[in-house]
Parts: sequence; structure tokens; C-alpha cells
Amino acid sequence: MNTPVGIRPDRPVAIGLAGAGPWARTRYAPLFSAGPETRLAAVWSRRPESAQPIADEYGARLAMTFEELVDSCDAVVMCVPPTVQTELAPVAAAAGRALLLEKPLAQSLPEAERLARVIADSGVLTMFALTFRFAANVRRFITSAKGFGTIGGRGCMLTGSQLAGPYAQSAWRLDEGVLLNEGPHIIDLADAALGSIVRVQAHGRGDGWIGLLFEHEGGAVSDVSLSNRVSLDLNQIELQLFGPAGALRLDVVDALGTATFATLRRDFAAVARGTPHPIDIRRALHVQKLLDMVERAL
Ligand SMILES: NC(=O)c1ccc[n+]([C@@H]2O[C@H](COP(=O)([O-])OP(=O)(O)OC[C@H]3O[C@@H](n4cnc5c(N)ncnc54)[C@H](OP(=O)(O)O)[C@@H]3O)[C@@H](O)[C@H]2O)c1
Repeated sequence: MNTPVGIRPDRPVAIGLAGAGPWARTRYAPLFSAGPETRLAAVWSRRPESAQPIADEYGARLAMTFEELVDSCDAVVMCVPPTVQTELAPVAAAAGRALLLEKPLAQSLPEAERLARVIADSGVLTMFALTFRFAANVRRFITSAKGFGTIGGRGCMLTGSQLAGPYAQSAWRLDEGVLLNEGPHIIDLADAALGSIVRVQAHGRGDGWIGLLFEHEGGAVSDVSLSNRVSLDLNQIELQLFGPAGALRLDVVDALGTATFATLRRDFAAVARGTPHPIDIRRALHVQKLLDMVERAL
């Protein structure tokens, strides 16, 4: 392991934020600057004029290059499109910085595998931003699911994120569709709760609705629906498990509150100080393999 040096135990972890899009602006900048485990040390974006208002608002340094960002922090939070993440994360890893990686890990499986190899060789620790996994109800659900004896499950992630709102005009999301954007969350949850997905059938389109049939290690089966082009008063993001013991239901629409993100911040600060996390690049690569299986099945 590349042991982090120089992070004093009595000081918050200095975060370098890469990206200044809506998620960086509305979620990560306020989250990591609030502390107490972290402080926002620096922010970088392709165009400095996007990062400047964040730097000004949170008293962080405006980094003019990604390398300057890396030099200005203890740990890097990536908040950029997947192709940019796979290009830049190795630079931070080579400098020994722990990384919070965004979903999807990469645009394709070969790129994800390349990044995973570089990270493994560097020895830096990572955490993967499957945000629902930091919610207390999700953690309880996955623990309960382990011994539940599920024979079948069903789930969905139905949103209107590509119809309106801050992400609707995002070029990589328009290109990649719902599978790479929302897919990682619900596919990860199905895989974690019912057992590793070993076989996939899929139909539909990334710019509409995708229906998935999964077979899980251990014999359970599940069906999962995905769309980010449905107009709903409230997103529907849920997973239900059924078996001889009855039913278990997880509704994650309300999971992304203050407590969940405080857990994410605390967990990432611990990663930066040298504690490995179960939701790391290995989990990210596993999810990317599942996305690739789905893509091939469509
Ligand atoms: N975990 C979750 O629940 C969750 C929720 C929302 C978003 N996210 C993730 O957060 C990340 C950011 O999403 P977002 O919608 O806020 O922003 P985004 O559109 O994915 O990325 C915006 C940022 O990337 C920069 N950028 C775009 N194209 C670039 C390129 N070719 N080269 C270098 N930089 C480039 C932009 O730079 P400039 O504008 O400065 O030029 C901007 O700083 C994504 O990975 C997304 O999947 C995760």
C-alpha cells in the first residue's frame, strides 16, 4: 500500500476537487468544505472560470492545472465525465493521492481495467461514489439480504434526469444513456443484495427504457427496470426481495440526505488516512463488468 504521508492526525484531510459541474458545485464543494474530517483545499476545472466561483465561495485555492490541484491536497475527489476520470486519475495515483472516483468508473470496460491496473500498481487507496451505499438503510438492507434466502427480486431506477434539470444537457450522459449514468447504482444494489450477477438478458434502449433479467450466483433471479426519461413527481428507486421468509423492501428515494453524505465524507477521510474501503476500485471494476455484460446483451 502507498502509505499516505504528511496528513497530520489533528488536521482535516485537504481535499482537491476536480470538476466544477453541478454535482461538484451543489454536493461535493459544500460537503468536503463543511468538515470536520475534511476541508476543501483546492478546486480545478478545465475552464478556470467554472472553478473560480467555487474557490471563492469556499475559500479554496483555484488550481490552474490538474497537477497543481494534486500538489495542493492530500486526497483527490474526481467529479468529471468518465473519459476525463480515466485520463486524470492516474496522475493523482502516481503522486500517491487517495482518490474518490465517480460512477461510472470509465466509458468502457477496457478503460476501466487499465485504470484499475494503474491504481493497483500505485498502491493508493480509493473509494467509489456509489452514493446509496453510504445510507444507513441501504447498509442494513444489504446485511439483512445476506441471510434472507431470496429466490427472486425486482427493482427499478426510474427518473426524469434526462428530461429536465441540471444533468439533462450533459453531453456524455446524452451519449451514454441511462445504463452508464443511473445503471451503476441499481445494478450494484441488485448484485450486492441477491448475489453476484452471473448471467444477463436485456432489452430496450439507453435513450428510453431498459429491462434487465439477472441470474445471480446461488440461484436467485431478478428483474430490474431502468429509465431516466420518465416524468414522475418522485423518482422510483427501489429493490424488493422475495423468498420463503417473506419480502424485504428497500426504497432509496430518500436515502441521499445529510447523514448519508456525512458518512461518505467520514469514510473518504478514513481512506485518505490509510483505511481501505469495501466500495473501492475493485467494486467499481466489478460494476463496470456488469455494465459491459448488459451492453453486450442489449
Ligand atoms: N454519485 C452520484 O450519485 C452522482 C450524482 C451526480 C453526478 N455524479 C457524477 O459526478 C460527475 C460530475 O457530474 P456533473 O454532471 O456535475 O458534471 P459533468 O458534466 O459530468 O462534468 C463537468 C465537469 O467536467 C469538466 N469537463 C467536461 N468535459 C471535459 C473534458 N473533455 N476535459 C476536461 N474536463 C471536462 C467540466 O469542465 P468545464 O465546464 O470547466 O469546462 C466540468 O468541470 C460525473 O462523473 C457524474 O456521474 C454522481
